[in-house]
Amino acid sequence: MSREHGLCRKLTADDAMKMHALEKRCFSLPWSLEQCRLSFSRLAFAAFGLFSEQEALFAYISFYHVADEMEILNLAVVPEMRRQGHGHFLLTTALKAGRKLGIQKVWLEVREHNTAALALYAGCGFQPCGRRNKYYTDTGEDALVLALTLSA
Ligand SMILES: CC(C)(COP(=O)(O)OP(=O)(O)OC[C@H]1O[C@@H](n2cnc3c(N)ncnc32)[C@H](O)[C@@H]1OP(=O)(O)O)[C@@H](O)C(=O)NCCC(=O)NCCS
Repeated sequence: MSREHGLCRKLTADDAMKMHALEKRCFSLPWSLEQCRLSFSRLAFAAFGLFSEQEALFAYISFYHVADEMEILNLAVVPEMRRQGHGHFLLTTALKAGRKLGIQKVWLEVREHNTAALALYAGCGFQPCGRRNKYYTDTGEDALVLALTLSA
């Protein structure tokens, strides 16, 4: 529990509808409800969410973890709650969980023009390590691949 950031807890399949609603508010290519539901059936999948006192999910992060690698899948904060440190809090929460799981390498993909996310990731030590040309089908933007090596 963190009062400053609402209630932080691991998400379960019961949260899939809230997760989908948040996705729709934050992404131009949101995960469908089916994708959200199915993700929880994968052993490698995990997600943490931040909830208001009214139990509204206002931010979440999801990732895959396999052996010593973690892939951050999605990180989203509803527009009216941005710039209050919630994104940074969730990212560091996921990285802490990663350390406990023995993760050494973390990577993610981000839109090349997503200045907010790029600044957040750079601030947490992520560095560019690749580019996927025209990766996003809605805008034709490239994806930048960022990586972070976790120290023990
Ligand atoms: C990216 C996102 C998750 C950031 O969440 P947030 O809670 O607003 O971020 P924080 O308040 O924790 O900000 C942490 C740092 O990120 C950077 N940052 C965040 N928003 C920024 C913005 N709009 N412009 C520039 N830098 C920004 C800053 O360095 C900030 O530190 P500071 O406030 O001390 O300057 C949020 O903007 C979002 O949900 N965007 C839409 C979904 C998305 O693009 N997700 C990323 C997918 S890869």
